[in-house]
Amino acid sequence: MTHTGSDALAAEMASIVGEAHVLLDPELRASYETDWTRRYSGRSRFVVRPGSTEEVAAVLRACEQASATVVPQGGNTGLVGGSVPRRGEIVLSLKRLDHLDAVDEEAGEVTAGAGATLARLQAHARDAGWAFGVDLASRDSATIGGMIATNAGGIRMMRYGPMRAQLLGIEAVKADGSVIRRMPGLRKDNTGYDLGGLLSGSEGTLAVVTRARLRLVPALPARAVALLAVPDVRAALSVAARIRASVPSVEAQEVFFAEGVELVCKHTGAPMPFSQAYPAYLLVECAAATDPAPSLVMALDGAGEVLDSAVATDRRLRDELWRYRERHTESISAEGVPHKLDIALPLGAYAEFEHRVRGAVAEVVPGARAILFGHIGDGNLHVNLLGLEPDDEGADDAVLMLVAGLGGSISAEHGVGVAKTPWLHLTRSPADIMTMAAIKRSFDPRGILNPGVILPIEPIRPRT
Ligand code: MLT
Ligand code: ZN
Repeated sequence: MTHTGSDALAAEMASIVGEAHVLLDPELRASYETDWTRRYSGRSRFVVRPGSTEEVAAVLRACEQASATVVPQGGNTGLVGGSVPRRGEIVLSLKRLDHLDAVDEEAGEVTAGAGATLARLQAHARDAGWAFGVDLASRDSATIGGMIATNAGGIRMMRYGPMRAQLLGIEAVKADGSVIRRMPGLRKDNTGYDLGGLLSGSEGTLAVVTRARLRLVPALPARAVALLAVPDVRAALSVAARIRASVPSVEAQEVFFAEGVELVCKHTGAPMPFSQAYPAYLLVECAAATDPAPSLVMALDGAGEVLDSAVATDRRLRDELWRYRERHTESISAEGVPHKLDIALPLGAYAEFEHRVRGAVAEVVPGARAILFGHIGDGNLHVNLLGLEPDDEGADDAVLMLVAGLGGSISAEHGVGVAKTPWLHLTRSPADIMTMAAIKRSFDPRGILNPGVILPIEPIRPRT
């Protein structure tokens, strides 16, 4: 008897990927079964770790034949419960597919395996004189496949777009084991439906991404970061707009507030950024071939809304300013398990939302705390609610209703996962949702891939 015990499917998996890559032991499975938030967790039947596209195909074919449901997983840095098991699914880890091909230096392109981390891809592009357009705080763990599956946005989205905009080609395995492949990918290719674009943001519900051809962007050696203290979010919006209109090198605009900075200082030991606390902060990064600081400072000249400022061009000082923004996530988590609501708003409604959201939460759960931060340049705000029971969704509902009423989206960049499924109808029409369900059926007719993510859970359909 092998360690796969009495589970015949596990034994079949072992014959495909090798025994060492089928994890049944609860201790070995544990890190695959709870997501980064600690809010979402479940037991898997087992974890399977294929090492090639062919092995992914064989694994999925066997699962489909055995009517076994599968949760695809990359770095497990998701924040909406879409990458961990909920009802005894098999976890299909793509981490071993981490190969990076040599950068095509003339084209500025690279082919990356789904399991390569963002940080490795960034370093690989840098070594070849290029850069990758997407960046986010979880870069050391987030994988390219997971970032495509969630259409990750991150801090440079305003300049380079989300993961979907980096995709030139895709390889992905459908539930029946067949492989979709447009590799290496062409800059121009109008031969029917854009399947890579469709898979980007499909959260593992349509097919399992195994490789991608990605565009690279110029490496810009000169950077300037400004941390600006402002009286409120309206001032942050107006300064951010002024910079966007006059500084073409701007690539990140982030907002955060007094309560978030207090938490970051408490949990990281960082000193307060200025000699006094301010209500709101705008962090801006510009990047260019030559020092962008003078044009950034010129744009700020006479901006009466700026109460205090710090500008840095050297790497260490820039990182010190960024930590007030980037370390929000871990500092909030150190206070408890938050409900994380990632939302987008039209820029014209951003300030009204910020003004109303704390009151909307307090009305439902008086003791709850709302810590806000986000990518103000793209109208994206992360609403983190502390002090709620894991399953009490009353405050989530109040926030998402407010978003919908102001013409926003219930998910800007984290995805729908299982966290937002009940509210999808708020910002997608019945026709949209029916079309999505039809697309899901055409890719995954039996419904074995990530059931209950994006769309409501359905029973597995019989083989036709
Ligand atoms: C971020 O912007 O830092 C990420 O979206 C993570 C988060 O929202 O906590
Ligand atoms: Zn974010």
